[in-house]
Amino acid sequence: MKVVAFNGSPKKEGNTYHALKLVCEQLEEKGIETEIVNVGIKNVKACTACNMCFKNRDEKCVIKNDDVNIWIQKMKEADGIILGSPVHYSSLSAGMKSFLDRAFYVAGANGSLFRHKVGASVAAVRRSGGLPVFNELNNYLTYSEMMIPTSNYWNVIHGLMPGQVHQDEEGVQIMRVLGKNMAYLMEVMKNGKETVEAPEQERKILTNFVR
Ligand SMILES: Cc1cc2nc3c(=O)[nH]c(=O)nc-3n(C[C@H](O)[C@H](O)[C@H](O)COP(=O)(O)O)c2cc1C
Repeated sequence: MKVVAFNGSPKKEGNTYHALKLVCEQLEEKGIETEIVNVGIKNVKACTACNMCFKNRDEKCVIKNDDVNIWIQKMKEADGIILGSPVHYSSLSAGMKSFLDRAFYVAGANGSLFRHKVGASVAAVRRSGGLPVFNELNNYLTYSEMMIPTSNYWNVIHGLMPGQVHQDEEGVQIMRVLGKNMAYLMEVMKNGKETVEAPEQERKILTNFVR
């Protein structure tokens, strides 16, 4: 099995990277291959809401001059996905938001590419705003019928300078427990698929406030 983890920080080896690494170490311990992809250091254009992905249905965003389409396929091929972001003004990093809006919109347009994959979110923060970011990241996973492992607290770790998160003993434990539970859930799902039938996917009902 494989997990792909996305680092939304503009710092390649900042605190978000260290948080993801702590989770990945536990996955590797259980024989699950991991890869950390650096999103935050790349130029990623924001979603233009052109809706062409719903028209084309080719698993691609029409913006082709960045890495989003490669990352969509990486997620499609993986058994598990981790979304990691630093907290910027109590929100996701801009690059991570641009990536996730486009990737998950394309996934939805193509019959929910990530449905029933295991997914987790982590946030790195100096002081405040970790929880909104954890929740924001989870919105992508829960919209997509993904399976979410938990830890013994919300997945937030504290630090300012790169690597400082290792001093947050509780945060380190949260990431470690998350990694263990993610590996466990992935194993249970892998074995369960042989004996338990997945629910049929319902056609999405899309309503708004006027009709
Ligand atoms: C533009 C910017 C905005 C930030 N906003 C917040 C914030 O709202 N709350 C906070 O506690 N820390 C904030 N921080 C600090 C980072 O969240 C913190 O240093 C985090 O560990 C960075 O993770 P990284 O090393 O992976 O980039 C901000 C940092 C930057 C660069």
